[in-house]
Amino acid sequence: MREDKNKFKMKLSRLLFYGIGLLLIPLLCVGCSEDDPGTQDQEEEEQPDNRAIKEKASFKIGAAVKSSHLSIEEFANTLEGNFNRISAEFEMKMTPIWGSETSYNWEKFDFLVDYATSHDMEIHGHVLLWYREYPTWFKNAQYDSAEFETLIKEYITTVVSRHKGKIASWDVANEIFNDNGTLRVDEFAYVTFDDPIAFYGRCFQYARDADPDAKLFYNDYNVVIASGKRFAISEMVKRFENEGYPIDGIGGQFHYDVNTPETTIENGLRDMANTGLLFHISELDLKVNVNRSNAYQFTAGEQQRQGDKYQAIVEIYESVLPDEQKFGITTWGVTDQYTWLTDFWHEKEYPLLFDASYNKKKAYDGFLAGLNDSED
Ligand code: XIL
Repeated sequence: MREDKNKFKMKLSRLLFYGIGLLLIPLLCVGCSEDDPGTQDQEEEEQPDNRAIKEKASFKIGAAVKSSHLSIEEFANTLEGNFNRISAEFEMKMTPIWGSETSYNWEKFDFLVDYATSHDMEIHGHVLLWYREYPTWFKNAQYDSAEFETLIKEYITTVVSRHKGKIASWDVANEIFNDNGTLRVDEFAYVTFDDPIAFYGRCFQYARDADPDAKLFYNDYNVVIASGKRFAISEMVKRFENEGYPIDGIGGQFHYDVNTPETTIENGLRDMANTGLLFHISELDLKVNVNRSNAYQFTAGEQQRQGDKYQAIVEIYESVLPDEQKFGITTWGVTDQYTWLTDFWHEKEYPLLFDASYNKKKAYDGFLAGLNDSED
């Protein structure tokens, strides 16, 4: 009896042993089978997204360039592989173009338009009227309002019609307002005209007449963070619409930094979206060396912080604006090797999507991750 009982006990424990063993096999094998569908999903999720930002985006991705950089092979390859629109960083401004009342320098201007056209990129014209770029001969002449407008009309007409149909969009005016919404007193139109806004309205019309297909923008900095400036822009847009002057879009420069508050950007952008116009993030770069410190180190943590801020800004752009108002995002340069901020801010500054050796930064990954999939 006892023997039988013992045999029974042994059989039972063997059965339990093998039974549990059999049950465990599939569990233990999770993670070792290549065919397991759950594992594949996991692996797919972990695949890096190798798309270029221009491939993923449903709107144009621009970069500001200088013609001299386009002959650098790595620069040109990086530009062409990742961007599908260019803005001229300098060479389409008034000073480099307008030599005298009767002479224009077209070489670099033409080169940039040809480059864009032959590389299947769009070109955004930056910028017709900016107080910083009136040539010295023009400033010194002290024209009265009638002479001033005759010359400016001629300038706009000549420049915009030169490559009619090839320059898809123009910043007609740049930075005419202070952050509190008053007009800049160092603006020439301010001192020359009793009603400077009406003068600008006519300038938009001169640009429209010169190339009816070009989209026309008002461009400024701090647009989404200065409510006074936004109010002034919205009032100008309403006035243009009431009085029949053309305007298609607003450009917000977006020279911000890793600390710029996202809710402020989001609220400001929503406010601008209410105009119903296109919105162009026209000069995006994000400073990291916010204290202009000589000891600044662009550490892995700082790179990630910058990447996160790029992602947040792109996500805000995607989520706040209706698709038909998304004109695109343009970064103010391509590589940290060449950025205006090393001259205008601090020599230790790393604001763009590619490092000085043309490697994609966390900033690039963040930008890419912030974009909606085009198929959505
Ligand atoms: C800057 C360029 O990056 C510099 O190379 C140039 O010397 C000065 O202008 N807002 C604008 C841009 O609208 O045109 C400015 O570009 C940056 C600030």
